[in-house]
Amino acid sequence: MTQAIDRTATTDAPILDVLAERFSTRVFDPDVAIDEAALASALEAARWAPSANNTQPWRFIVTRRGTDAFATVYDSLRDFNKAWAGDAAALVVAAATTTTEDGSPMHFAQYDTGQAVAHFTVQAHAAGLATHQMGGFDRAAVTSEFNLPESITPLTVIAVGALGSLDDTSDEVRARESAPRTRRAIGESVLVND
Ligand SMILES: Cc1cc2nc3c(=O)[nH]c(=O)nc-3n(C[C@H](O)[C@H](O)[C@H](O)COP(=O)(O)O)c2cc1C
Repeated sequence: MTQAIDRTATTDAPILDVLAERFSTRVFDPDVAIDEAALASALEAARWAPSANNTQPWRFIVTRRGTDAFATVYDSLRDFNKAWAGDAAALVVAAATTTTEDGSPMHFAQYDTGQAVAHFTVQAHAAGLATHQMGGFDRAAVTSEFNLPESITPLTVIAVGALGSLDDTSDEVRARESAPRTRRAIGESVLVND
């Protein structure tokens, strides 16, 4: 019997289903191509993220499994990510433009790009796509392979695709994928709540 993966968060206050259900999987279905409509919607959601002065510093490199560009992004991953991310239907590099045309720093570039990626992942999950962001990759390799200018900094690679089955995974991945998801209590993050 196929073991379905459900890692819905147990929350202390109600939150949107899509937020509770989103999690970073390591199990993608290697036989399912990217759902193009869902991917387009995820990118559109990123597009509509707020940003400082509406500067929209985010930039994306979208690669689909089977293409040379996908292989290039995959090759840049650290080994611990290579172990599972190759099954994703798409690997999307999220990058930030960190300076303006005159070379001045854009102080909120990384903050804004993270917010755009949050939009991306939530929209993707709402449309049935699993995602997993990775900081473990070779930024210099992505920069040189895609000829990125100095003003653009790659921040993460997002694995995107259909959720796979636990039946086809190793014991280690199965254990990780079944472990309870945890967060510290919100009281430890709220410094003042007057
Ligand atoms: C900026 C960033 C970098 C991350 N880098 C990696 C990574 O290189 N490899 C990995 O397996 N997970 C990575 N993650 C996933 C986190 O470990 C994961 O989001 C966190 O443990 C919470 O789990 P959840 O997303 O399932 O709620 C990264 C997440 C973010 C936001």
